[in-house]
Amino acid sequence: MPTARFLGHACITISDGKHNLIIDPFLTGNPHGAAKAEEIKCDYIILTHGHDDHFGDTPLIAKKNKAKVIASFELAMFCSKQGLDVHDMSVGGAHNFDFGRVKFTIAHHGSGHGHYAEVYTGSPTGVLVTIGGRTLYHSGDTALFYDMKLIGEMNKIDIAFLPIGDNYTMGIDDAARAVELLHPKKVVPIHYNTFPVINQNPQEFAKKVTSAEVVILKPGESVEY
Ligand code: NI
Ligand code: MN
Repeated sequence: MPTARFLGHACITISDGKHNLIIDPFLTGNPHGAAKAEEIKCDYIILTHGHDDHFGDTPLIAKKNKAKVIASFELAMFCSKQGLDVHDMSVGGAHNFDFGRVKFTIAHHGSGHGHYAEVYTGSPTGVLVTIGGRTLYHSGDTALFYDMKLIGEMNKIDIAFLPIGDNYTMGIDDAARAVELLHPKKVVPIHYNTFPVINQNPQEFAKKVTSAEVVILKPGESVEY
């Protein structure tokens, strides 16, 4: 069984004991960052979009670990320009890696890098990661969208990481509805309480979800799936 560890905000690591991945490694400057960027050991970094609270410590972690960055084309080229090793993809595309499979899904959000989002980094994405025969869905930052039903029909999702913070992404009601569309076995709320504007009570989310096991992780905690 693979293990996913929540490191605060939208950052998670995934491991099957052999391969180590990190998604959206925003640790430096993350008030709830549960690890230091310098401590991260990984083979791959997957990015959902270019916003600073997702791109985070990508250059440092990629260089220190000689890790490959998997991202949509424009964001991958932005990384490549900084000397990072990249595998560029695009939304809707899947690829088989040595650890398993990655497919980028749509997300309704923005994507620009820098304080003023001044660098164009392509379309925002969500991502399906299949490793050890289990499928994890990290929706990225997104609004609720009805095509989540299709994602749920075409993939047996073992665990979903969904934002509940509202303001920039789905809030609790929309995320609870997303669970009904996606039909994951387990769901972990993320992207809340990092900053005052996205303060939410995850127990409220848990109360509204009836079709999946809600796993509330404190930053630093892990779940097997
Ligand atoms: Ni964002
Ligand atoms: Mn975000």
